[in-house]
Amino acid sequence: MRTQILIVGSGPSGLLLGQLLGTIGVETVILERSSREHVLGRVRAGVLEQGTVELLEEADAAARLHAEGLPHSGISLAFDQRLHRIDLEALTGGKHVTVYGQTEVTHDLMDKRDAAGLTTIYEAANVTLNDFDGEAPFATYDKDGVTHRIDCDFIAGCDGYHGVSRKSVPERALKTFERHYPFGWLGVLAEVPPADHELVYANHERGFALCSMRSTHRSRYYVQCPEGDRVEAWSDDRFWDELRRRLPEQTAAGVVTGPSFEKSIAPLRSFVAEPLRFGRLFLVGDAAHIVPPTGAKGLNLAASDVRYLFTGLRDYYREKSHAGIDAYSGKALARVWKAVRFSWWMTTMLHRFPDTGDFGQRIQEAELDYLVHSRAASTALAENYVGLPY
Ligand code: APR
Ligand code: PHB
Repeated sequence: MRTQILIVGSGPSGLLLGQLLGTIGVETVILERSSREHVLGRVRAGVLEQGTVELLEEADAAARLHAEGLPHSGISLAFDQRLHRIDLEALTGGKHVTVYGQTEVTHDLMDKRDAAGLTTIYEAANVTLNDFDGEAPFATYDKDGVTHRIDCDFIAGCDGYHGVSRKSVPERALKTFERHYPFGWLGVLAEVPPADHELVYANHERGFALCSMRSTHRSRYYVQCPEGDRVEAWSDDRFWDELRRRLPEQTAAGVVTGPSFEKSIAPLRSFVAEPLRFGRLFLVGDAAHIVPPTGAKGLNLAASDVRYLFTGLRDYYREKSHAGIDAYSGKALARVWKAVRFSWWMTTMLHRFPDTGDFGQRIQEAELDYLVHSRAASTALAENYVGLPY
């Protein structure tokens, strides 16, 4: 088989890139290790920057997002028994974010791809990438006991942190940067109305908590938990009790409890691999970088990588120009690092760190107090939260 762009991974990065390229008549094949059901079973964050929404519009995959997504013009920081609202819209000249689950984004993009009759090969095992440092790259994979080969012009490595793309690059050609945080997030989904109409990020002596939502009747909550904690140790009752203890009384009183239908623990890390291009292989999204979820930037960064790569490939096919694909790595990384910094800062300011003790707690409280009372500091948070320019 032959295609123009071989995309590895059918997460949001791969699907969005495929959809955008489809709109300009560039052929793609997606190779995905898991089944469609498995990809759709993953629960991830759900805050979209306006630029991400615009890109989904350009991909003609934003109809349900506009019908069901919730525009949010502010968020709250909770500390010292109070909620402090950050008015994103007022501080950024009218920008907002849209709350819409990543699973739904993936679903919409998959439906569009199916409707357009574009090829996704699910359950493709042992994907191997070859000759991407030359003119004629190709991939092989196994399916139903048979090995297949796909030739292409370029490979887009959209296969997440554990994928094969980054691992195919010789180690000496990559520089990686990593920070590990000594705690995790325990997340719960429940069919109950959210405690507040906006997101609440809480700093508390017992640890961080977040009130988020998927809709007006479905809530997503998180509490910081010790590294190595197991989900089995957290009954629903223990979770709801711990969540309410970390929120201001008034917010805690608004928490409606109910049975959880998803509960999982995610580790927190920052990770960046540089550069994002190796000959005819590009790294995109989680394959190249991971941020802790505190700033809700993971999916938005994947989308900004896709935007730069899509415009580069468009210029290559339309105008035979290499300028866009040559600039891809540098442009994408500049935006990635700003979001890595923002996510690290939000994480550092809001979580309880085992080694900083009461001194660390007071420093955080001072920073939060300054932040919510200084228009300049609030603006810096708001600008980053709604998404920096491309
Ligand atoms: N071969 C083929 N497919 C693979 C392989 C492989 N060897 N390894 C991984 N994959 C697939 C995974 O099964 C997954 O469906 O690649 C896909 C990668 O998807 P994501 O991990 O969702 O990564 P990405 O599309 O870059 O999305 C970034 O996801 O993790 C969140 O916070 C992150 O929101 C961000 C978004
Ligand atoms: C979520 O709704 O899952 C969510 C929202 C905001 C975050 C992280 C996760 O910062």
